[in-house]
Amino acid sequence: MNQNLKTPDFDVWPITHKIVQAEAKGASVRIGWDDGQVSDYHAFLLRENSPDEATIHPLSRESIISPLDLPDDLKCEDVTVDDQGALLVTWSHGGHVSRYNPGWLRAHGWFEAEQHSSPVVLWAAADLAEPPTFDGPAALKDDGVFLAWLEALQTYGVARLTNLPQEDGLLEHVVERIGPVRESNFGRSYTLEIKDDPDSNAFTSAPLLQHMDMPTRECPHGLQFLFCRKNTAQGGEGLYCDGYRIAEDMRTEEPEHFHSLTTDIWEHNNRAKTSSYRASGPVFETAPSGAVTGLRITSWLRAPLKAPLEVQDRAYRAVRAFTARAQDDRYLMRITYRPGDLLAFDNRRALHGRAGYDAHGGERFIEGIYADRDDLYSKIRTLKRAQTLKTAPLETQL
Ligand SMILES: [Fe+2]
Repeated sequence: MNQNLKTPDFDVWPITHKIVQAEAKGASVRIGWDDGQVSDYHAFLLRENSPDEATIHPLSRESIISPLDLPDDLKCEDVTVDDQGALLVTWSHGGHVSRYNPGWLRAHGWFEAEQHSSPVVLWAAADLAEPPTFDGPAALKDDGVFLAWLEALQTYGVARLTNLPQEDGLLEHVVERIGPVRESNFGRSYTLEIKDDPDSNAFTSAPLLQHMDMPTRECPHGLQFLFCRKNTAQGGEGLYCDGYRIAEDMRTEEPEHFHSLTTDIWEHNNRAKTSSYRASGPVFETAPSGAVTGLRITSWLRAPLKAPLEVQDRAYRAVRAFTARAQDDRYLMRITYRPGDLLAFDNRRALHGRAGYDAHGGERFIEGIYADRDDLYSKIRTLKRAQTLKTAPLETQL
């Protein structure tokens, strides 16, 4: 059997623990580790991830078998640990033997007591007076600084680069280093400026209530980037709040409103002469675990709620309660946009707003671009993979 594949993917799995015991248990394998932990692997899990060319395409590293290619009564006949610490499994059908990297096995084992930590840190005004901030030119030169900026964005939902040069196309260049730009009906990018015939309140000098962009889309744009090129106008500060923090506070302090915000379905629709976007969902999108995973709320894009009167009553009251918190100083971070600042934020988490400004009292030139959260998370993983490849001792890369 060809053994040229180490793992069924392109990741690096440093070997942090050794296998001290391996036991074939029919349709599963039990592994005992050198720190006393134990993990169980079903035969189907192991077999479909067998890193051999009959199972995983050697170039794409994607599976080339169907679950139904495996016999229903598949068993692990025998398991051993070779002299490099890898697990060898002999299968009941066809004499197939699979070899598994112990780093990969450890990373994919289920450990009852394992802490499943989230990178997300919730914040209110007292916790975070300013966005985590990094030197822009350093981030452009050094992947480590760039990664730190991206991780801060993932953690806090808002992160800033400063001191960037005034170059046309720079914003797009920075965003494309993360992933593809996500276009919208406002174009590939947009400029926050006053328009004679505005197709959004954003293109006026009026104050803007805390909101997100694109709640009118089935999957709203995940990331927004604002690059300040000029700002001599009076006012116009950015007003940001952590929607996840507000949601968690409401979960414990206003459970009835929280219930409405997670279950009552609102439609948002844009008001434009040449487009008509509509999408529906609760204000707080939640995962099956109950964790809040995204928001959908913008006052000026909210459609009338078509529902029984008692639902209208509870849902509008819940939105009022959320809005009161989103405008409250205890949740608000105030940001002055300075030339050379590039502010990135999670559009589905960190609501943004704006103080009004004097349209005739100075110049204001801010460019904006959208992207998506998937690309941020992918970039973080691949930059970390590259770091691990550089730093993991060779003997731990089986
Ligand atoms: Fe906006």
